[in-house]
Amino acid sequence: MARSEQNKLPSHVAIIMDGNGRWARRRGLPRFLGHQQGVKALKKAVRFASDQGIQSLTVYAFSTENWQRPKEEVSFLLDLMHKTFVEEIDELHQEGVRIVLVGDRSNLSGDILQLWQNAEGLTQDNTGLTLNVAFNYGGRQELLHVAKVLAQRAAVGDLDPAQIDESMVNDLLYTKGSPDPDLIIRTGGEQRLSNFLLWQSAYSELYVTDVLWPDFNEEHFASALDDFGQRERRFGRVGKKE
Ligand code: FPP
Repeated sequence: MARSEQNKLPSHVAIIMDGNGRWARRRGLPRFLGHQQGVKALKKAVRFASDQGIQSLTVYAFSTENWQRPKEEVSFLLDLMHKTFVEEIDELHQEGVRIVLVGDRSNLSGDILQLWQNAEGLTQDNTGLTLNVAFNYGGRQELLHVAKVLAQRAAVGDLDPAQIDESMVNDLLYTKGSPDPDLIIRTGGEQRLSNFLLWQSAYSELYVTDVLWPDFNEEHFASALDDFGQRERRFGRVGKKE
C-alpha cells in the first residue's frame, strides 16, 4: 500500500540536512565535496517526497549563521545553489514542484534575489509538492521580523496590541501559506533545532538519525515516515492511551 493511502502521512516534512562536512572528512576529502554530494541527496529527497504525496517539504539549506563560515565555503555553497537551480529548475517545474524561498530577503544581493524570484515566478502556479528552501534563514531573526512589523503597525495606530493573535504571527512568518511541519528530520545525529522553524515546530515530531546527509536515501526517508506513523500526537492534550 502506498504511504499516501495510509492515514498518517505527514503533510509537511522539514529537514535539517546536517553532516556534509563529516561525510567528507571521514573520506579524507575537502568539505565542499560533502556539500556537492549533499545536493544529490537533496534531489532524491525531493523526488521521494513528491512521489509519496507529501504536500510540503522544507529544507534548511543556508542559515543566517552560515555566512560566518570561511569565505571560500560560503562562496562554494552559493555557486552550488546557483548551479543546482540552473540544472534542475525545468525538471522540477515539469514535475509540478512549487519553489518558495523561506528566509530574509532584505539583505540579499541583487543576483541571488533574482535567482530565487525567477524560480518562484516560474513555479508559482504548480500544484504538486511545495519545496520551501530555507535560505538566509534563522528562526529568531524571523520572529524579530514579525515583532518589528507588528510594532510598526501598532506605532502608527493601525493595530491594537491586544488584538495580536497567532494567525497574525503566522501571516508574517516566512513560511506563510504552509502548514506547521508535522515531522522534522535531522540527519548527522545532533539533537537540537539549531534556530530552525522555532515558532512552527511547537508540536512537530522530531526524528534524529545518525545517517549523514549525503548518505540519506529513500530507505532512510521511508523509515522516518514509518516512525512518524507510529507516533501518538497530542498537541498538549491528554493522549488516547491514558
Ligand atoms: C550542513 O552540513 C549542511 C549545510 C550547511 C549546507 C546544506 C546545503 C546543501 C545540501 C546544498 C543546498 C543546495 C540547494 C540547491 C538548496 P555541515 O557542513 O554543517 O556538516 P558537518 O556538521 O558534518 O560539518
